[in-house]
Parts: sequence; C-alpha cells; structure tokens
Amino acid sequence: MPWIAENSLTPVQRFCSNILACGPVPRHIAFIMDGNRRYAKKKQIDKAVGHSRGFEKLSECLRWCLELNIKEVTVYAFSIENFKRSKEEVDALMELARSKFTKLFEEKDKLMENGICIRVIGNLSLLPEDIRKLIAKAMILTKDNNKAILNVAFAYTSREEMTHSIQTIVEGVKNGDIVKEDIDEDLISNCLYTNLSPNPDLLIRTSGEVRLSDFLLWQISNTQVYFTEVLWPEFSIWHLLAAIFKYQRQYNAMVTFEKDRFKPKCSENARVESFLNNLQLKRLRQLEIYAGM
Ligand code: FPP
Ligand code: MG
Repeated sequence: MPWIAENSLTPVQRFCSNILACGPVPRHIAFIMDGNRRYAKKKQIDKAVGHSRGFEKLSECLRWCLELNIKEVTVYAFSIENFKRSKEEVDALMELARSKFTKLFEEKDKLMENGICIRVIGNLSLLPEDIRKLIAKAMILTKDNNKAILNVAFAYTSREEMTHSIQTIVEGVKNGDIVKEDIDEDLISNCLYTNLSPNPDLLIRTSGEVRLSDFLLWQISNTQVYFTEVLWPEFSIWHLLAAIFKYQRQYNAMVTFEKDRFKPKCSENARVESFLNNLQLKRLRQLEIYAGM
C-alpha cells in the first residue's frame, strides 16, 4: 500500500464531498488513530497485522483528505508511552515504520509531483538509528513541498515536546541569544516540533476512547474535537464526512476564536527572529547528520 492510496472516490462519495466542500472545510485535521489491537482481536488476526491495516487506513484517509482539499494532516503514529508495550509489539511497529519509510523513496516521484511534504514530529533520538536515518532523509527530500503536508507524530508526546521547547529557550537565554523578557506564548510555540504548522482545526479520535493521550495539548486549545466509536482500521470516508459536517455546524461559534489560531509568525523582535532562524538551521543540520549527509 502506498503512502497515499490511488483509489479515488465513488460517484456518491464525490457528490457528498462536493456538497460539504461548499461549506468551511478544515485546513488542518489531526487524527488519533486508535483501535488497531481491538480490531485485530475482533478479526482474530495478529496485533502486527492490525497495525498494518491501520497504515492502510491512513493511506486511504490521506487520499480522502487530498480530494477534500484538506491541506494538512497530523497523525499520532507512535507515542513515547508506546515504548512500554511488549517488545514484540514495539518491534512490529518499528518494523512497520522501517518498511513504510523505505517504500516512501520508491514513491518519491509521485510525492514530489504532488508537492507532498512529510514531517516527523517527536524525539527522533529515541528511535533506532536506521529508522531515524530513513525519517531524516524523507524529511529533507520533501521539505520544500507545500501543496499538502503530512505530520507523523512518532516517538512523540506533547509534554515531551513542551519540555523540549522550554529547554531550547533556556539554552538560548543562557547563551545570551535571547533574554528572559523575550519569552512569550509565540516563542514557546515557535520552539515546538510543530512550529511550521498552523494549529489543527479539527482533531478526530477513533475507537470510543474519550481522551487526548498527550497529543498536541498546546496546539488544540481552540480545536474542535470529534470522538467516534469506530475502530481506526474500520474508519471510512463516511466517518470523515460526518466529522466535517459536525465541524461545519459548530464553525460559526468557532470563528470568534479564529484570531487566536496560531500561525507561527515571524517575530518583530530582531533578536528573537535571529534565534528562531538559527534554531531552524540547527534542526536542519541535525537532520542532515541523522541522514548521514
Ligand atoms: C493505536 O491503536 C495505534 C497505534 C499505537 C499505532 C498507530 C500506527 C499506525 C496506524 C500505522 C502508522 C505507521 C506509520 C509508519 C506512519 P492501539 O494499538 O492502541 O489499539 P487498541 O486501542 O485497540 O489497543
Ligand atoms: Mg489504544
């Protein structure tokens, strides 16, 4: 299964999508893809196969999002907490990532043609070296694409991300690059792994669990959250359209918050601007080191 499925919508699906597309469509959707193991149990298949079906669903879902003109998608693929699962399951998830990021390079031409940028958000230093290298190469390859953006949260938790942002800022103050008075919400946002993305408009969690599991906690203060009972591998375009329909019904109440929607801004403070530019360069350099360049 490629990263973005080929199959297009049926005429009925397209008709319904076109109707919804007349209203406000979220520009950025985040997914907590939950329920792979319960799906595996229900179908009496191995957990690893359940996760693999989860990837297939992700691929289909990215196709639907492209068709609906949703520019950015962020998915929770592996939490730092998931390292506490059995070795067998962690190994299976790592193997899935290894194989999918390897395959990504076979789809390189299509990704570049379609202008798709892939970013992995998380603490890459926690990952096996070979996977880190594949991820870094994929990010460098697609970094200038901007038609559609896929953020894969891998070895991620929001609290670790916030801690990392604060450590970056403290180091900046210690080195004299910025001063204590420069610290504000924008600076913290600009030092998160998600600094290049606007906040999600809609967060969808499958499988009936009603919690956020340490995902994008800083970024979703004004995001609509949609919980659905369906297990992730059984998620269909109809579930996605239902979530968008509900988003549209609540949209008018939401737009009052629109001004708060964080779109990382260039700082007007030259010292902060220079600190953030250097941070971007440092992060790119780190990726190049991971990629062996
Ligand atoms: C949650 O279901 C799902 C995960 C921990 C893994 C999600 C990963 C994918 C869908 C594949 C993505 C892979 C790449 C390379 C991007 P669960 O295991 O918590 O299931 P449960 O809630 O039924 O126990
Ligand atoms: Mg779960």
